[in-house]
Amino acid sequence: MRKKMVAGNWKMHGNLVDNKQLLDAVIAELNGLGEDLVAVCVPYLYLPSVQSQLQNTKIALGAQNVSQYEKGAYTGEISASMLSDFQCQYVIVGHSERRMLFGEDNHVVAEKYVAAQNAGITPILCVGETMEQREAKITEQVIEQQLMSVINLAGIETLNKAVVAYEPVWAIGTGKTASPEQAQDVHAFIREGIAKQNLNVANQLTVLYGGSVKGNNASELFAMPDIDGGLIGGASLIANDFIAICRALRH
Ligand code: PGA
Repeated sequence: MRKKMVAGNWKMHGNLVDNKQLLDAVIAELNGLGEDLVAVCVPYLYLPSVQSQLQNTKIALGAQNVSQYEKGAYTGEISASMLSDFQCQYVIVGHSERRMLFGEDNHVVAEKYVAAQNAGITPILCVGETMEQREAKITEQVIEQQLMSVINLAGIETLNKAVVAYEPVWAIGTGKTASPEQAQDVHAFIREGIAKQNLNVANQLTVLYGGSVKGNNASELFAMPDIDGGLIGGASLIANDFIAICRALRH
């Protein structure tokens, strides 16, 4: 059975007061949601305070980045074992903002994926094409390369302990959501590609959609056969929107 999931990606937003208010509202509404997974991926500095606020709730804690290195002279970096110290269960790797603004290539992303898993943390591996790549009709090639660099380094079975998020770069933070059909096409391509290598892995892999998911479009996206939930940026900062998106998992 594929697990459904909604993960919030707060990006570089928030402060101690706002985070507490946001999570108070989310916890109050979502704690009875059942077995669907809800996670919040917060800035490093807020991991301890969010960790304590999430104690005794069903909401999981995640980070937005991790070093590919285990430890050492890497000024300013945070290792996977440091994230584990704060009971961090998920970490986003390969987000397009990291790829594009911070120069992370497919190989670095694959190393970060391995580093997370070595520390027992589930990576949320982001893949997706830019608008130029979509227009050049190389979406599938781009996504295949992004996935294969991880599979080649880590092995296909490791996807049993990972989540994949399809995030078309042109849909992130733009208000331009992929249509449910556009998203479904790519999700099916991802699952079929993995099924050719390992059917069991493909059948249980959670594949999220991300890119301008809101309270009013989540249900139609999540209704598609290969979409198992969402990775939510902007709308994860607004309690009512995030709650509505999480509830849409149930429909
Ligand atoms: P968005 O961001 O929901 O604000 O488009 C999604 C993401 O970057 O994960």
